[in-house]
Amino acid sequence: MSEKPFIQYVKRLIQLVWLLIICVVGSTALFLGDAMGLLSFRVEESRLIASAGSSVVLVKEALWQAPDTSSIPHNAKGDMIRYGRELIAHTSKYLGPKGKVRQISNGMNCQNCHLKAGTVPFGNNYARVASAYPKRRNRSGIVEGFEKRVNDCIERSLNGEKLDSASREMQAIVAYLKWVGKDVKKGEAQPGFGLVELTPLHRPADPVKGKTVYDNYCGRCHGADGEGQLAESGLEWTYPPLYGDDSYNFGAGLYRISKFAAYVKANMPYGVTFENPFLTDEEAWDVSAYVNSMPRPEKDLSADWPDISKKPVDHPFGPYADNFSEEQHKYGPFTPIEAAYQ
Ligand code: HEC
Ligand code: HEC
Repeated sequence: MSEKPFIQYVKRLIQLVWLLIICVVGSTALFLGDAMGLLSFRVEESRLIASAGSSVVLVKEALWQAPDTSSIPHNAKGDMIRYGRELIAHTSKYLGPKGKVRQISNGMNCQNCHLKAGTVPFGNNYARVASAYPKRRNRSGIVEGFEKRVNDCIERSLNGEKLDSASREMQAIVAYLKWVGKDVKKGEAQPGFGLVELTPLHRPADPVKGKTVYDNYCGRCHGADGEGQLAESGLEWTYPPLYGDDSYNFGAGLYRISKFAAYVKANMPYGVTFENPFLTDEEAWDVSAYVNSMPRPEKDLSADWPDISKKPVDHPFGPYADNFSEEQHKYGPFTPIEAAYQ
């Protein structure tokens, strides 16, 4: 054997031994890492994807987080932000039927639907509001400021009367909305904003199936008849109503089943999160159909959607710029309607 090939042979051998060492050390590290939870993010992520089907797939680190309340300044402006947060958390104590400031709304609190004062990822939070308003909205056909958008929820979700823009209460709510979304840049899209997006159903959402979901998983808190349960103080709800006289009216966002289903999927039964949902997408759609087929306060919506071609597919009231029925616009399937507009 000449010298050259022999040296090459030894070099190969050394390379092979290195490779072996790297493999052994690497896989031991992987095992240890897993045991120590270092890899739990990957495991968590695949569990999340498996449990939520196609609707909730996310990278955790990028999730939107609200600023820390301890960073609210201790000055007059900070006092307004804190008062705004209090009004959103306990609206009814101030503005409800027995409100100590005015009596202009039903007994619900903003945070019944905008969880934890609008700070929960996919809990219908206020992340986007500060950077997006004033904004042109198709429902009204005009540019809406913060006050108009807040009053929209007061008149519809809280089935109430407008709050004066110059009032201390409106100014406080707006101050809080601007604070909670202050770190979001205009047009930025970050996971966690607003509501989750659900897989569409290829059949109409079914109120009959939805009643079973309701009876099994919702009635124990929200009441057998959707009537909710008042707190001992009588000033706000421990469990807010889902239908009937004390609930949101026909004009509210939740009266669209896509919004209701998205809210419920990631947040109900109370305590679940988007990462750990309980209902399947189908159950979420069906329970939305059931709740929104039950009686609730009406609202004159004739001035909404001045351009009817801009109505969302699940807006349940005609006239429409297409030939689908009100029934299909209310319960779906929505994909064929969407296709008709493309
Ligand atoms: C019954 C449920 C409900 C209640 C109560 C409610 N809202 Fe809303 N709100 C919604 C829904 C649904 C939307 C629409 C979310 C969407 O389109 O993604 C919304 C949207 C908003 C938006 C715009 C959010 C955005 O990202 O553009 C603001 C601001 C808002 N609400 C403020 C309030 C305030 C302030 C109160 C209390 C005075 C309140 N809401 C009470 C359900 C509710
Ligand atoms: C363990 C009790 C509990 C269960 C079970 C539960 N919820 Fe809720 N739900 C709540 C509470 C509490 C709130 C208000 C949250 C807040 O104010 O922080 C709420 C709020 C809501 C809201 C928004 C406010 C409103 O009244 O319109 C909807 C919609 C809702 N729940 C739907 C459902 C549906 C559908 C189910 C069944 C799949 C369900 N919930 C099961 C406790 C519950």
